[in-house]
Amino acid sequence: MKIVIINGSARKGNTLTAINAFIKGASEKNEIEIIEPDKLNIAPCKGCGVCQCSKGCVDKDDTNPTIDKIAAADMILFATPVYWWGGMSAQLKLIIDKCYCRGLQLKNKKVGTIVVGGSPVDSIQYELIDKQFDCMAKYLSWDMLFKKSYYATARDELEKNKDSMNELEGGIGKNL
Ligand SMILES: Cc1cc2nc3c(=O)[nH]c(=O)nc-3n(C[C@H](O)[C@H](O)[C@H](O)COP(=O)(O)O)c2cc1C
Repeated sequence: MKIVIINGSARKGNTLTAINAFIKGASEKNEIEIIEPDKLNIAPCKGCGVCQCSKGCVDKDDTNPTIDKIAAADMILFATPVYWWGGMSAQLKLIIDKCYCRGLQLKNKKVGTIVVGGSPVDSIQYELIDKQFDCMAKYLSWDMLFKKSYYATARDELEKNKDSMNELEGGIGKNL
């Protein structure tokens, strides 16, 4: 499969650790590309609606090439830290909002989510983020392969959690 990973964290921390563990497992059988929104020049969606009757977003920044990559993928992995009691990061939301210009081309994708937060994983915060992805999945008929939540605060905390690392690499990555 062609897998596109959207990294919603700007720091070299737990989200990237989770992504790298996933890649270690999944890269043997799949072609993988990471999108790093904080390294791109992408303006937030203005809701102008012009994209709905033309080929793409009117913004002449990195929007269209980025959405092209997402539209061409077989699978999208959304990875984000929890920010402010139950939200994905602004970096990830920025990309998702800009998908509006090609929304229906994202139908029937295989999808996974990785969410890392500083609260225990039984917190409602993870449920809120999962529910938002469930709604998108319903709208776009996504095949939701997995939704994983991890608890880690300090930048290097997740890499010390061997069970989580094994799950990401072996349990999830290698099985794709
Ligand atoms: C702006 C900001 C807001 C945060 N808000 C929450 C929160 O509401 N709930 C939570 O569980 N963790 C929160 N955190 C903690 C991060 O989710 C946690 O440290 C995560 O491991 C960061 O991932 P990263 O290392 O990939 O950046 C917040 C962190 C930041 C920087």
